[in-house]
Amino acid sequence: MTRCFTMLKPGVINRRLVGEIISRLEKKGFKLVGLKMMQISNELACNHYAEHKEKPFFGELVDYITSAPVVAMVWECDDCVALIRKFVGATKPSEANPGTIRGDYCTHTSHNIIHASDSDESAEREINLFFKPEEIINWDDCCGEKWY
Ligand code: PPS
Repeated sequence: MTRCFTMLKPGVINRRLVGEIISRLEKKGFKLVGLKMMQISNELACNHYAEHKEKPFFGELVDYITSAPVVAMVWECDDCVALIRKFVGATKPSEANPGTIRGDYCTHTSHNIIHASDSDESAEREINLFFKPEEIINWDDCCGEKWY
């Protein structure tokens, strides 16, 4: 079992799509082990996107992610990062296939509605940035992971 950090960006809240996006991830079978709505600070946003500090769109990225609340989540499954990223779709909506979250719900890279960790290392860093250890719930999946 591995974990992936995902974040529903402000557009999802504004467009009332929170339930729909979470539902898609749940139906796929990802196991939700962390969930919270939060208004993230400028400091946390800069820290989260630190590796993109030198990119020309950095300011826009931080402004957008702090413009309204986000929903931070931690999902679990085998090979979680790779599977979630496939589900989320390519960064640029023009390259994201229909059927993926970005492919179905957005048209601009700067408002591509969802963030997902790009490696196990990033997932660990991002989970620790957004969640306290006690906010991750190791619940027993009585259906058994193999059902999905
Ligand atoms: S890049 O361009 O290689 O750094 O792309 P990537 O690593 O996939 O993107 C990093 C985050 O920056 C966002 N992004 C942008 N925001 C605004 N404008 C432009 N042009 C742009 N290009 C990339 C991208 O959505 C990533 O954020 P998250 O939150 O992970 O989606």
